[in-house]
Amino acid sequence: MLSLSLYWWWPGSPLGRRSYCEMNREITTNSAEETIAFGRALAEKLTPPKLVLLRGDLGAGKTTLVKGIAAAFGAAREDDVTSPTFTLVHEYRGPSVNLYHIDLYRIDTQRELDTLALDDLRSENSILLIEWGEKFPRFLRERDVEISLERDEESGRRIRIIG
Ligand SMILES: Nc1ncnc2c1ncn2[C@@H]1O[C@H](COP(=O)(O)OP(=O)(O)OP(=O)(O)O)[C@@H](O)[C@H]1O
Ligand SMILES: [Mg+2]
Repeated sequence: MLSLSLYWWWPGSPLGRRSYCEMNREITTNSAEETIAFGRALAEKLTPPKLVLLRGDLGAGKTTLVKGIAAAFGAAREDDVTSPTFTLVHEYRGPSVNLYHIDLYRIDTQRELDTLALDDLRSENSILLIEWGEKFPRFLRERDVEISLERDEESGRRIRIIG
């Protein structure tokens, strides 16, 4: 099911001729494992530098998706990717890409945001994956890619990619 959907979705497939950047893509996963697999596939299309916003309610699957992305870059094992809810920034270094997984759920003011010095993390080989970044309009303006996850009944997640 997942692979069929990806085939349809995948740019360059005989069924989808428009380029990656021109398309808005959408997929529904039915388990955490499928979301991780999707994250792995998606990583192939994420070349640094990038600022990626991960949007969705609590428990929507944002961190779960990062597990697949980090694993695909050889930056962390799936099980080692945990929520940066309290630490706010997790760094995962891969052979060619540095991933920064950031959670701004507990950050409310510009002053608090400044203390994280996120600009210092941006470099030619870095990808910032930010949960709850939409709280700050600046990130909505600057983001390269937006990934939104929405619950679809019990364990279904509708995932949409913009950018
Ligand atoms: N299709 C699915 N995709 C992703 N996660 C799923 C799916 N079905 C069930 N789950 C479960 O939902 C939970 C998602 O949690 P996760 O920490 O990834 O959410 P989150 O969006 O990062 O939340 P938060 O905003 O609290 O950080 C996990 O317990 C995961 O096992
Ligand atoms: Mg999370």
